[in-house]
Amino acid sequence: MKTARGTLDVFDSAEIVANAVADLFVERAGEAIGERGQFCVALAGGTTPKAAYALLADEPRSGQVDWRNVAVYFGDERCVAPDDEQSNYRMAQQMLLRHVPVPAENVFRMRGEDEPAAAARDYANVLRSTLGPAPRFDLILLGMGADAHTASLFPGEDPHRDEDALVRAPYVEKAGAYRLTLTPAVINNARCIAIATEGPSKAAALQSVFREPEDATMRPIQSVAPRDGELVWLVDREAAGGLLQH
Ligand code: 6PG
Repeated sequence: MKTARGTLDVFDSAEIVANAVADLFVERAGEAIGERGQFCVALAGGTTPKAAYALLADEPRSGQVDWRNVAVYFGDERCVAPDDEQSNYRMAQQMLLRHVPVPAENVFRMRGEDEPAAAARDYANVLRSTLGPAPRFDLILLGMGADAHTASLFPGEDPHRDEDALVRAPYVEKAGAYRLTLTPAVINNARCIAIATEGPSKAAALQSVFREPEDATMRPIQSVAPRDGELVWLVDREAAGGLLQH
């Protein structure tokens, strides 16, 4: 359904959410490659997207994407080595990238093993050199934490604080570690942003995001508002819980 915060699609189960994310990926890839010759996508980390990535890595969907013309980026990364079990890149490699023929030179990972501020600067340069001064993704996949964070934009810091930055390296108290993350300047320039979230642990956050006034410092995912694009929330009934009660 249409809401002030984008389209909210509620599905009966997490499995159906994963299928919906995979179908959206296939659809947007076909559109982008058909219209512009390439599909530029930023992948989400965490656990929610794993099922969707596994579906994309398998028939029939793996055969429905022209992987040679897909460019893969990341919405955020933990400041760890790429082979660390915490790495979002490692998870995407395991669940999707090693199963499909995306050219290695088309995979742009955030270098979590480098000094955070330098890694953020480097990734911003990668974005500029490959996508131009105002990077515009065809699709950005995001998740949501139970504290209404998204990517690595966590409560307590204004996500809009340095509007010119494309990539940021915040120290995340909750994680006791640095992270790398796209900023709202990049996220909100996307043609399509898809937020997938599921499970009862996200219900309170989702309700506050949709029902409480805008406070992006408290609820960073409220900073997600595409300037000239589409925002789709793909959630299961457990996460949508309170939202469905009128
Ligand atoms: C990360 C993600 C993060 C994630 C949320 C939800 O690096 O962990 O980018 O923003 O999307 O924390 O995580 P789950 O999908 O594991 O609930």
